[in-house]
Amino acid sequence: AEPLVVTMDGPAGVGKSTLARMTAQALGIAYLDTGAMFRATALALGEGAWDLSGAELEARLPGIVFGLTGVGDCSTLLCNGAAVGDEVRTEEVGRWASLLAVRPEVRARQLQVQRSLGLGTSLVAEGRDMGTVVFPAARRKFFLDASPRVRALRRVRQLEAMGQAADAAAIEQAIRERDRLDRERPVAPLVPAPDAVIVDTSELTLHQVFERIMDAVRSS
Ligand code: C5P
Repeated sequence: AEPLVVTMDGPAGVGKSTLARMTAQALGIAYLDTGAMFRATALALGEGAWDLSGAELEARLPGIVFGLTGVGDCSTLLCNGAAVGDEVRTEEVGRWASLLAVRPEVRARQLQVQRSLGLGTSLVAEGRDMGTVVFPAARRKFFLDASPRVRALRRVRQLEAMGQAADAAAIEQAIRERDRLDRERPVAPLVPAPDAVIVDTSELTLHQVFERIMDAVRSS
């Protein structure tokens, strides 16, 4: 059978990763976290790499090799042979990733690598431009959204649950800044695909969003 590709796009902090993983697990297919690819690339290149010349980026990017193994909860993204983990999940690396993600050389390379990871494989691909650019022929496309305020408050609750102090205003500010970088860049900006199912998650629980996603996938 033809591989099943489901795309999940949306802004930072909307719950895409959790939902994409749950969906992949329910469908028994791989989960591809493309934000983690941009983050791992940013970490591998180091701080300030967004200022490198285009030629220098093109020379260095092929040295960062990605792989994808496993399905559902066991999906693992590999970068140069090692599993990508929590080391890329800091605010700082997220910011580096957004700054690098505006560079056309970086996007061209990611596009190529992401398509090759998806070749002949069923997957849930999560990111900013999965439905618009990388997998335009996906069977089902989702665009998850929520206001910056709601996303900031969810993040605050997460941090507090982990026993960490959280500055709601600063977090909301950082979310707005990342939204601006992602929505305003000329190459592959964050925008819903015309055929995407748009889910505003502001007033919904995680479980309610998951149900909507699964209903829409089943009816596709
Ligand atoms: O989703 P996550 O916060 O991990 O992504 C980090 C950054 O990588 C995003 O803010 C965005 O700038 C960039 N990104 C992108 N295209 C994707 C996935 C992530 O530009 N498909």
